[in-house]
Amino acid sequence: MIFHQIGNGGCQSYLLGCPDKCTAILIDPSLAQLDRYRGLLAREGLTLRYVVDTHTHADHFSAARQLKEDFGVPAVMHRESMAPYADLRLDDGDMLIVGDIRLQALHTPGHTSDSLCLLAGDRVFTGDTLHVGGTGRTDLPTGDPDALYDSLFNRLLTLDAEIHVYPGHDYSGRQSSTIGREMAENPRLQKRERQAFIEMMDRLNLSAPQHMTEALRTNMGGGKTVDQLLAEASARVPFMSLSELRARLGERRNDFVILDVRERASYDTAHIPGARNLPRGQLELRVNHDLPDPTLRIVTVCEYGKVSTLAAATLRELGFRRATALDGGMKAWRELDYPVEEGHGSAWVGELSPEI
Ligand SMILES: [Fe+2]
Repeated sequence: MIFHQIGNGGCQSYLLGCPDKCTAILIDPSLAQLDRYRGLLAREGLTLRYVVDTHTHADHFSAARQLKEDFGVPAVMHRESMAPYADLRLDDGDMLIVGDIRLQALHTPGHTSDSLCLLAGDRVFTGDTLHVGGTGRTDLPTGDPDALYDSLFNRLLTLDAEIHVYPGHDYSGRQSSTIGREMAENPRLQKRERQAFIEMMDRLNLSAPQHMTEALRTNMGGGKTVDQLLAEASARVPFMSLSELRARLGERRNDFVILDVRERASYDTAHIPGARNLPRGQLELRVNHDLPDPTLRIVTVCEYGKVSTLAAATLRELGFRRATALDGGMKAWRELDYPVEEGHGSAWVGELSPEI
């Protein structure tokens, strides 16, 4: 079997390939590693057959939906998963076949209600049900320490002691373990009486994972991450450098507009000389009134260069084919000591028309 464990800041994903049939499965892929998966599949000469999430992740962004769309393969999850993009939903005991590899799904709720472990020959992929030296937490949405107790002691840990454990996270510096070793050494598995185990889990008092809301919003709701939105916008617009805009300031061409998309108060404090103000939040509603000529060359400006990228992409969508975003924002502009003006300056500031 072709096997790759791909670590990413504590998150572990796995690529399993059948060298005979040249097919592969990805387990718990992370958006941050997309290019790595594509590269590995190409290098190994493998065709992806399935992408699996062992559960709804609350701490990182699953790449399952993206890979499913890119490769035209099913995104696999347990049937209780709320992810709208999951199209092959497994019951306990169901098996996936990938060439000569067989993976059996074990429903192991506790960390989440939709948690799965995947047993493939001499190894088990445990997601966040069991880590090396730890377990998944049970205090996040759909978590249940009572269910985790059963999933561990009455299910997963009854597997052969020699079976290799490959977790969804690695916080110990050890990439894998065995069922027997975890039974003997894992501190979380030493409370073998149900109530004591539940009390231990309830008392962990862990802080919420970074990006939890964004992870749940994207993994559970099928939405996009902020980075994805920005990357998509960046791919649709050209940029203008700070120095290029500085050099063009004196030109005063009438087909060239510097559009400051920050709120009015920030604009009034300091803006690029000659810039007009149209806050991003009002862009779509005011554009016909404020920018009547769609052939204008427009450079959008904000504080850090992100909102202006979104604004330029929106303008392009609206038909302003020459919309460009400044590479950087007012913060960088000020740090370079480039000229600014205060107040309304020479700016034209449109008022919201009464029907909007
Ligand atoms: Fe998790």
